[in-house]
Amino acid sequence: MALHNLPGPIGIFDSGYGGLTVFKEIVAQLPQYSYVYLGDNARAPYGPRSFDTVYQYTWQCVQWFFKQNCPLVILACNTASAKALRTIQQSNLPASAFAANRVLGVIRPTAEVIGPYSQSGSIGILGTAGTVKSQSYPIEIAKFWPTLRVHQQACPMWVPLVENNEWQNPGAEYFVQSGVEALLAQDKHIDTVLLACTHYPLLAEAIAKYLPPKTTLLSQGSIVAQSLAAYLVRHPQMDARLSKAAERHFFTTDAAADFDQHASIFYGRAVAATQIVL
Ligand code: DGL
Repeated sequence: MALHNLPGPIGIFDSGYGGLTVFKEIVAQLPQYSYVYLGDNARAPYGPRSFDTVYQYTWQCVQWFFKQNCPLVILACNTASAKALRTIQQSNLPASAFAANRVLGVIRPTAEVIGPYSQSGSIGILGTAGTVKSQSYPIEIAKFWPTLRVHQQACPMWVPLVENNEWQNPGAEYFVQSGVEALLAQDKHIDTVLLACTHYPLLAEAIAKYLPPKTTLLSQGSIVAQSLAAYLVRHPQMDARLSKAAERHFFTTDAAADFDQHASIFYGRAVAATQIVL
């Protein structure tokens, strides 16, 4: 059972390695906190899975974080944020033994700030099939920037390329080019492109090659980190429940050795993970 009275780490979740691109920025901006990272590598990718499956997997992982005494969990995964966050926040959490805990995602903080990046009023979203189909970005962005035109393109091959460490090989180029071109074909005025999948920052250089030179290419890491910092200032009661021992622990649902080998590419430094069974 969770040790409710002791300060606990912030939980950072992704289907696999992608959340580490967000985690890296969070740690850079908020180094004093302790963190637990979980990648559900054994069941990644989440992108092509049904709404219900992503929700079941995500809720199972969130409960694991709660049992590790994490009062706050960040879904550093757009697909999980799109398909599971609302149900967890509105139904599961209030009915659980952890009703005072909080779960936050990456879509709303991004939607809140994206408007001023575009001069033309037309932006492009690159994401997994699940994120795009959920319509979460057009819906959330319309709340903050109702006149912004939002175009979306699903890139179902990109996460498998990254998860399988094939993203720098020549074959990856074809899939990057076709995804970017399909997005740009929707509106020639798109001047801002959001990498709405936490795996995609690794492809940023390849993606930029197919964008018009003045296009702004946005990754979410620093946006989410800034939003978390502001959240902790606004919620001192939550902040008081968080450990400031600057510890970092990594967990994966698949082989730890594989995780360690790949994770350093995303995180920028060596990682030693522990395998868990959910
Ligand atoms: N990093 C996840 C996201 O942001 C990848 C999803 C997947 O596993 O397909 O959407």
